[in-house]
Amino acid sequence: MTSIFRKLTTAGAIAMLAGSAAAQTEIKIGYALAPDSHYGVAAEKFEEVVLAETGDDFTFRHFPSSGLGGEREVIEGLQIGTVEATIVSSGTLANFVPETGVFDIPFLFRDLGHARRVLDGPIGQDILAKFDDVGLHALAWGEQGFRHITNNRNQIQGPADVQGLKLRTMENPVHLAAFEAMGAAPTPMAWPEVVSSLQQGVIDGQENPLSVIVSVKLNEVQEYLTLSGHVYSPAMLLVSKPFWEGLNDDQKASLEKAATEAVTAMRAYVDNVETSGVETLKERGMKVGELSAEQKAEFQAAIQTAYEGYYETYGKELVDAIVATE
Ligand code: PAF
Repeated sequence: MTSIFRKLTTAGAIAMLAGSAAAQTEIKIGYALAPDSHYGVAAEKFEEVVLAETGDDFTFRHFPSSGLGGEREVIEGLQIGTVEATIVSSGTLANFVPETGVFDIPFLFRDLGHARRVLDGPIGQDILAKFDDVGLHALAWGEQGFRHITNNRNQIQGPADVQGLKLRTMENPVHLAAFEAMGAAPTPMAWPEVVSSLQQGVIDGQENPLSVIVSVKLNEVQEYLTLSGHVYSPAMLLVSKPFWEGLNDDQKASLEKAATEAVTAMRAYVDNVETSGVETLKERGMKVGELSAEQKAEFQAAIQTAYEGYYETYGKELVDAIVATE
């Protein structure tokens, strides 16, 4: 009896273990940057809080440094349910929810605080909710900081200095329109091709926030950094809608809590690199220049034609409401 009981107990324990292992859901999370970037830090925090909140419901597998491909491909993976989660820039988001493009308008936000208040307020939250209509579930807005121009041709002080500059942009129509209006030669390109294209001289430059320029060490392939701060760069923590719909209410609440903490960690990283990044890049040998308020105004004037298009696409009222947000 004792031996049968022991065998049953052992078999039961094995079955329970197998059962609990089988019940664990793997969350594959893909992002374009390294584990020590603002995306990596946010993804780690997301995992930490989800695991703390849910016990052994989930396991995580990270795919940093574009390990699952470009941002558009990863988002498509979320839609069909082959990838569970991602952190992405706004680069290709407007292809899925066109309204997100409004936040890509150059010179729209005064500073990080202004941008965060708009994204966390009703305007930003209404746009997040629209992702549920396209096979995705947006958990929270994160950010990368303000984008600046790097290149190998010349330092930039005004629109004359970007004429004909072969500048990689994200695959984002709002950014593309602005750089075309400035007279640059913008080349939309998925991120995984950018560093090799800079190395080979296929493009002269690119534009990204300090968080990216520092963590990717773009100083190794770019000589000039112009602190243009021409546009704010939002980011987003998204999950697959099929995955989201399979969760129970407690799990959903845990992921929401984890996402809030993840983007708080991302913003803290950005705050830090926005103050320390320029020094780091100077130490690494980059030639750094900063646009004055007057020079920025010249760029803004140069893209007035693009602004007409933005008003038509997004509505002047919405753009004005964003600008007016305190
Ligand atoms: O420039 C981009 O495409 C994005 O800013 C990046 C570097 C992929 C981060 O999301």
